[in-house]
Amino acid sequence: MTSDLFDLTGKVAIVTGSSRGIGFAMAQALAEHGAKVVISSRKEDACTEAAKQICDAGGEAIGIPCNIVENDDLDNLVQKTKDAFGKVDILVCNAGISPFFGPATELPDDKFDLIMRANVRANIHLAKLVIPEMKERKDGVIIIISSVAVKKGNNTTAYSISKAAVDQLVRNLAVENSPDNIRVNAIAPGLIKTHFSRVLWENEEALNKRLSKVPMRRIGEPEDIAGVAVMLASKAGNWITGQTFFVDGGDTIDI
Ligand SMILES: NC(=O)c1ccc[n+]([C@@H]2O[C@H](COP(=O)([O-])OP(=O)(O)OC[C@H]3O[C@@H](n4cnc5c(N)ncnc54)[C@H](OP(=O)(O)O)[C@@H]3O)[C@@H](O)[C@H]2O)c1
Repeated sequence: MTSDLFDLTGKVAIVTGSSRGIGFAMAQALAEHGAKVVISSRKEDACTEAAKQICDAGGEAIGIPCNIVENDDLDNLVQKTKDAFGKVDILVCNAGISPFFGPATELPDDKFDLIMRANVRANIHLAKLVIPEMKERKDGVIIIISSVAVKKGNNTTAYSISKAAVDQLVRNLAVENSPDNIRVNAIAPGLIKTHFSRVLWENEEALNKRLSKVPMRRIGEPEDIAGVAVMLASKAGNWITGQTFFVDGGDTIDI
């Protein structure tokens, strides 16, 4: 039977950085397919509001604030999720930061450390928290958000290195944990219209120049990433692990 390929009924999902943007679109889609969803970001009000939106649409969601650079917050996020829903089946490490644009030779050490802590170390910390119970159940899914930045030279050295590390992290976590039926994959979005990427799309001329090299000739919307997340989280993705999926309108193929 294939009609339940994308069904997530009974599953519990945490999505970091999900009060808006790509994280919210993925959380919404996971909830629409039956998952109980935990919305998380630094701001409690924003989490509560986003969770309410999902509940108002007939889904099940709660908000738990968490700044991914704080280990105590990450511990609290997983513990409160278990208190509310009993387990974590799906972990989506979506929150990421990029607070420095400029030449690699001008990258301050503290910015490098902060970016690696948020975009890499926090994901490892969360994986440590959820994998033991996933192993016991012999079932679990981890999705980490990477970026097309890993394929191009650019002016975000620390960010790009951190996302390349994400791609390697999913391979390592997959090798280590897939024997226990824990699937670990990355999604690498192209340019998506969100607050995070505003500087790359608000100038129409610069945007059009960039889009002229993107085969699908349009900027992505957060919803464009949601379908892949549902696929990877569900039975549809049952034999997929250790991969990075470029969801970018063709941005990373040469034209
Ligand atoms: N947009 C793109 O073009 C693009 C392309 C490739 C990859 N990505 C990746 O996609 C992911 C999501 O980005 P987005 O474009 O959806 O951004 P966004 O719309 O700005 O949303 C970012 C989300 O993360 C939260 N957040 C920010 N800093 C956080 C922190 N330290 N701890 C916890 N939550 C935090 C924000 O809420 P609060 O402010 O309340 O914390 C918000 O919910 C990131 O990993 C980014 O690298 C984006």
